[in-house]
Amino acid sequence: MNKIYLDQASTSFPKAPSVADTVYHYLSNSPVNVSRGSYEAAYSVEEKIFETREQLRRLFHFTSGKNKNVIFTPNITTSLNILLKGLLKPGDHVLVSSMEHNAVMRPLVQLQKHGISFDRIPCAPDGSLLLDQADSLIKPSTRLLVCLHGSNVCGTLMPVEQIGEFCQKHHLFFILDTAQTAGSIPIDMEKLHLSALAFTGHKGLRGPQGTGGFLIRNELIPEITPLISGGTGSISHTEEVPDFLPDRFEPGTPNIPGILGLHAALSDLEQSSMEETFRHELKLTEIFIEKILDADPDGKHIRIIGKKDLKNRCPVASVQTPGIDMALAAYELDSTYGIMTRVGLHCAPSAHKTLGTYPTGTIRFSFGPENTQSEIEQAVEALFRITGTRQIEGDFIHGI
Ligand code: ALA
Repeated sequence: MNKIYLDQASTSFPKAPSVADTVYHYLSNSPVNVSRGSYEAAYSVEEKIFETREQLRRLFHFTSGKNKNVIFTPNITTSLNILLKGLLKPGDHVLVSSMEHNAVMRPLVQLQKHGISFDRIPCAPDGSLLLDQADSLIKPSTRLLVCLHGSNVCGTLMPVEQIGEFCQKHHLFFILDTAQTAGSIPIDMEKLHLSALAFTGHKGLRGPQGTGGFLIRNELIPEITPLISGGTGSISHTEEVPDFLPDRFEPGTPNIPGILGLHAALSDLEQSSMEETFRHELKLTEIFIEKILDADPDGKHIRIIGKKDLKNRCPVASVQTPGIDMALAAYELDSTYGIMTRVGLHCAPSAHKTLGTYPTGTIRFSFGPENTQSEIEQAVEALFRITGTRQIEGDFIHGI
């Protein structure tokens, strides 16, 4: 059976064309460390890592930042933990959206036990932020607004430009979680007035898992106490944590094969048109939604969750199947039709409470650059069969 991968919001597949060879080449030829050895091979790896920081700085239009303001971490969850736990002090108050992933919510709930409080800016039942309700949540102690750019549950985008202006007006730090949008949607650090941008390398950037990081503006650096400390290969005469970047936030040997793979992915991205790719992904989303709405406008068998249009969304769509257990439906999608999706709460209980899908969750379909219209059509037909939405004539089961 051919397989159809529609779990791109979890991690992208296939990875960008040059990634696998680059990682293989490094590991099989000269897998040396960085910032430690005084030999040519180590300098050459160091140079590639420098270039990767430059690529990220360019990608996110971080014109006022320097190369060293780009920090690598193992993943975006670590980035958010470093930023939130390093910044927030007892008495501080934070604003989040009600659509957040647990990568933001769990650190904040942990911090509540240390005297930090937060409020959720409400969102409409389709996940759209009700920013006009945020003013009333501001307190003298509000210091930060942290939110995701795109919902990993239903694809709704946050109005990041307006949020940036809101943060400027109220003198708040603004941290953006770009897990679902980096590499798919242009993001401009300067235009959005971001204090820091957290990214992952293995989704829209199409690099290896185990890569991520954050870009940080100078004014935020002194506010962040490093969460992790250790050897950096620099100022080794002292046991104090370096006060310079990137070393301050990058102790220990980094994920060098991963970062080199990310370098390859970013080079591939620079050779392609992000706009064209995004248009393709949104087209697939549109086909998916329209086919379901055409066959089942009342959502009797398949209920579309979140927005039903393409405005302000990324290529993620969620459904509920009222007539059949969703875990069973997702199992059938994979085992009978070869269609890979994600089912459940997607690590975002707050988003599901907003969308009205808590605690059962949804079946999530997410689309990438190499998915095709035919794959989406097969996924929808399979969903129709499983849910009894419409009897399909003939044997369409692909690859059997
Ligand atoms: N946060 C990722 C997802 O939504 C892993 O699947």
